[in-house]
Amino acid sequence: MLSQTRPAGGDTLTFLRAIMRNPQQLGAIAPSSKAVARLAASVVPATPGAVVVELGAGGGVISDAIRDRLPPGGRQLAVEVNEGMVSHLRRSRPWLEVIAADAGDLGKLLRQAGLSHADAIVSSLPWTLFEEARQRRVLEEISASLVPGGTFSTVTTLTVLPLQRFRHFRGLMEGTFATVGTLGPIWRNVPPALVYTGARAGERPVEDLPGEPGAG
Ligand SMILES: C[S@@+](CC[C@H](N)C(=O)[O-])C[C@H]1O[C@@H](n2cnc3c(N)ncnc32)[C@H](O)[C@@H]1O
Repeated sequence: MLSQTRPAGGDTLTFLRAIMRNPQQLGAIAPSSKAVARLAASVVPATPGAVVVELGAGGGVISDAIRDRLPPGGRQLAVEVNEGMVSHLRRSRPWLEVIAADAGDLGKLLRQAGLSHADAIVSSLPWTLFEEARQRRVLEEISASLVPGGTFSTVTTLTVLPLQRFRHFRGLMEGTFATVGTLGPIWRNVPPALVYTGARAGERPVEDLPGEPGAG
């Protein structure tokens, strides 16, 4: 695990500024709590040299949790579409490989970074802001970008669970991954949140599977 060297503040302010400028891109009223970030990052495997990609890094709270779990020799990339967030991430987290791009281009972005696959993909993308065809496309990119047995996690808030777009996304998760799971809820998040996980079919040691069920 790597030691934490990170600035004290600025993440939330940057996030709130971005919400005011572009609420349709953010899809949240506040950054994820550290408890949610730790749960989302629990899919990071212990395999030395693992490649972990984060989608929708925002202010960086989940990036920090991923870094805390990144094994020796690991590589951590963060894909973020919002320019203000990208500048903030580059300024505040020089250790992070920040890619200013759309998560829907994930396969191409990995190839440009000299990678064929990721061992884990961690998302806090605003799925209910994506139309159904776009949900499918992004999830296909994610699945195709994972190694066999690789794991995906995505943060969602309890407030979106009844929405038709969310139910559609949940159905896509079931159709895309060999196994789908739920971690949480985390009640001390604004609003309370869950983490969904999906594992690609294939070999992966049992001890690498995500944990912390019932945290929060
Ligand atoms: C709900 S916020 C989460 C931010 C942060 N990871 C957290 O948990 O607090 C969603 C983030 O996804 C980014 N985003 C939205 N659509 C995206 C896309 N198509 N590709 C990459 N990032 C996207 C937004 O700009 C925002 O930073």
